[in-house]
Amino acid sequence: KKDVGILAMDIYFPPTCVLQESLEAHDGASKGKYTIGLGQDCMAFCSEVEDVISMSMTVVTSLLKKYKVDPKLIGRLEVGSETVIDKSKSIKTWLMQIFEECGNTDIEGVDSSNACYGGTAALLNCVNWVESNSWDGRYGLVVCTDSAVYAEGPARPTGGAAAIAMLIGPNAPIAFESKYKASHMAHVYDFYKPDLASEYPVVDGKLSQTCYLMALDSCYRQFCKKYEKLAGKKFSISDADYFVFHSPYNKLVQKSFARLYYNDFTRDCSSVDNYAKEKFQPFSNLTGEESYQSRDLEKASQQVAKPLYDIKVQPSTLLPKQIGNMYTASLYAALASVLYNKHASLDGQRIVLFSYGSGLTSTMFSLKLNHGQGPFSLSNIASVLNATEKLESRHMTLPEKFVETLKLMEHRYGAKDFETSKDTSLLPPGTFYLTRVDSMYRRFYERK
Ligand code: ACO
Repeated sequence: KKDVGILAMDIYFPPTCVLQESLEAHDGASKGKYTIGLGQDCMAFCSEVEDVISMSMTVVTSLLKKYKVDPKLIGRLEVGSETVIDKSKSIKTWLMQIFEECGNTDIEGVDSSNACYGGTAALLNCVNWVESNSWDGRYGLVVCTDSAVYAEGPARPTGGAAAIAMLIGPNAPIAFESKYKASHMAHVYDFYKPDLASEYPVVDGKLSQTCYLMALDSCYRQFCKKYEKLAGKKFSISDADYFVFHSPYNKLVQKSFARLYYNDFTRDCSSVDNYAKEKFQPFSNLTGEESYQSRDLEKASQQVAKPLYDIKVQPSTLLPKQIGNMYTASLYAALASVLYNKHASLDGQRIVLFSYGSGLTSTMFSLKLNHGQGPFSLSNIASVLNATEKLESRHMTLPEKFVETLKLMEHRYGAKDFETSKDTSLLPPGTFYLTRVDSMYRRFYERK
């Protein structure tokens, strides 16, 4: 099997969103904190008629239709999500309705969850399945779906919501370089959801930032080692055309790329020029621990990395800056942004991705791109993603309305016996929406 990877992709995000600039003013934060400080433009959120189940049904239906894929041809379906609704009943089982209708109930796979990493676990499972002896010739389908909401406070502007679907198979335009892959997994309490009565996580923001960067360093070091062993030469950031990061907010992505640059300096890569060497010199004797605490290093490396950031990272930031943290879907929305922005020039190029899920689990892996053909071509994927039009047709709500919605959802979370407003005025045709939850907590959806 050649070029196993992503054949097709689609994204759905709620039409309801709030501008970070107005949220900043509403929250009484200093001007520029959310927009420049966090680097975010806008944040999508689910209104009371949408949730992770409805978004995933919307995006799967849309992908199958737009790429004309017969639902009978799906042999494995995996969902990544950290938004728990029925706890023991997977979101995957909800999606089975789409396949049952066509008489296809022979589909392996369930949900994977560990914070923002579940989507990557699902994706790696599907790729491994297609590459394995148990593959039956059918497609894999991966769905990442999350609604990220935080309690009032500094983490609230780092929410977001979306669902992404990816079709997996051989001869893909977005192929895995499966040998180039490294993980870092460890036990920490940086972000978790111990309170089952609340949708909000318990989060240690500062710790989560450091854990993210430490995991990035560890994955990158292992990744470089494996690459060197297999390719017989040193890996540096000049060996990939794009770097795509899990994107809780854009500032962390800027810091991440700068950190890779600093790693190349400490690894003594020939790609690091004299200007960069001079800038990094004062920090060459820092211990690992000190390097995470040094604000001066952070500033210097961001400055050094800026020109390359604009080329190798900025094209991935479109959707995450406009939608916010989509948890499991964040990394793949960033990948979708590169495909959307650069589809015409990606043939033969390499994209390195970094997936992070608090708790913690993380993997760095590599993709090699080719034009592809027919519906499964980069140009067709870009036109299905249709990012600009989807973003522009959204409805900006006032921060007051956003806060009011979250208040309502706090009451609705884990509740039974209620009906929603069934207000679908903002939803595009074909969108699934929640109509009611009955006395046995069973949920009911309709399609606009
Ligand atoms: N103008 C410009 N920049 C500003 C302004 C301003 N007026 N005010 C603050 N800033 C900058 C700060 O300097 C800082 O940038 P820096 O780190 O480059 O110095 C940035 O804005 C954020 O300000 P902080 O004071 O650090 O923000 P705070 O601590 O209030 O919250 C945090 C940020 C911790 C990220 C919070 O939003 C959070 O907890 N989010 C959820 C956790 C998270 O997303 N972690 C990431 C990995 S885990 C995951 O994906 C869930």
